[in-house]
Amino acid sequence: MTAAMSAAAIPAHVPPAMVGDFSLFTSPGMAPTPDGDPQAAAARVHSGPPIFYSPMNTRDGKGTWVITRARDQRRVLQDPETFSSHRAIFASALGESWPMIPLELDPPEHGAFRTLLNPLLSPKRVMALESAVRERASVLIDRIAAAGTSCDVMKDFAFPFAVNIFLRFLGLSDDRLDEFVTWANDLLHGDNVQRPAAARTIIAFIDGLAAERRERPVDDFMSFLVQAKVHDRPLTDAEVRGTGVLLFVAGLDTVAAAIGFDLAYLARNPDDQRLLRAEPGRIVLAAEELLRAYPTVQMIRVATKDIDFEGAPIRKGDYVSCATMIANRDPEEFPDADRIDLGREDNRHTAFAYGPHRCLGSHLARREIVIGLEEWLRRIPDFRIKKGTAPIAFGGHVFGIEQLILDWS
Ligand code: HEM
Repeated sequence: MTAAMSAAAIPAHVPPAMVGDFSLFTSPGMAPTPDGDPQAAAARVHSGPPIFYSPMNTRDGKGTWVITRARDQRRVLQDPETFSSHRAIFASALGESWPMIPLELDPPEHGAFRTLLNPLLSPKRVMALESAVRERASVLIDRIAAAGTSCDVMKDFAFPFAVNIFLRFLGLSDDRLDEFVTWANDLLHGDNVQRPAAARTIIAFIDGLAAERRERPVDDFMSFLVQAKVHDRPLTDAEVRGTGVLLFVAGLDTVAAAIGFDLAYLARNPDDQRLLRAEPGRIVLAAEELLRAYPTVQMIRVATKDIDFEGAPIRKGDYVSCATMIANRDPEEFPDADRIDLGREDNRHTAFAYGPHRCLGSHLARREIVIGLEEWLRRIPDFRIKKGTAPIAFGGHVFGIEQLILDWS
């Protein structure tokens, strides 16, 4: 056991034999590591039991049970009565307790909001956004190509691309792009001063936009939200805020990270890069395999009652972790799970979760990733990791990659 782990308190009901030496935050390869592979590091739990207790497995150093089999994760995620999503992650950073909606609501309340929001990100709606997504990707990549033969993918492409699409979705113009990128970066990767400050800025922005759209509605997401009804009544200010904040948080880092991991993989695997360049029709299937192998989200649920789960004495209030990076490398579910096969069929990965909270933005996310890759491969010749640099990958609640410097000189 590492020093950090032994320092964390282990609840008395956890049998010592069920404590595992593993954490998505502190295990080797999880802190920002040059040339690190945090998803492969997470997959090592498959040599162990189906469930164990990790004493330090959240950003704020709390312990969680870790479910290692995809089948068992589905059981947890499909049983919100026993495993609740009610946590207030964003608000608690500010000493407040409102939920992000619908993420931190349980059924049946969750269903009312999900029904309201589903049509906004339906496949049909996403199709209508597609030409704007492609245009954004093309403009950004053309700019990169014109500037030279190397770039920092996250800073120059993945992040601005994801933020830009979000601005479109909100109905806002691009002139606030840089400001948004800074907020998102500070919120997701900042220190203990930058994070709450960014959270407050984002809340003030969402509240301000809601007030504006109440006054003068236009045809956009926030106008829809402030005019919408649940249970035959308008949304409260806290509900509008909780929904707006979630949409801000949910679709930026995740999409940017997926594009980063995908381009890093292709930079290191020239044969696969050549294949997708020659046969772009394969990109849709390849993107699914890359979502399987490099998923980014750890889901946490809170037990609402005492339950014995595969021999583990889970007690009311315990955290239960369902990490997509663990489920997606389960050898019982995916033959040769650690091998990346861009032609893998019947790929029932969990990158977008299971159950009632299945990602609302998955259709948009998939199109952003595929279009991003298509336009990149169309415009940038054979690329590799720039000599003398190393991409830095990291674990955590949302896995990511930074300083991904590609070179095509
Ligand atoms: C590759 C990109 C993405 C990944 C890997 C991803 C993954 C996930 C996962 C695993 C969940 C479930 C979380 C939980 O149950 O605790 C989730 C929920 C959600 N995602 Fe995504 N997401 C992505 C992109 C997006 C985008 C682009 C949007 C919006 C534009 C979005 C909006 C949401 C929302 C609103 C929820 C909450 C759904 C609910 O609670 O019913 N996501 N996402």
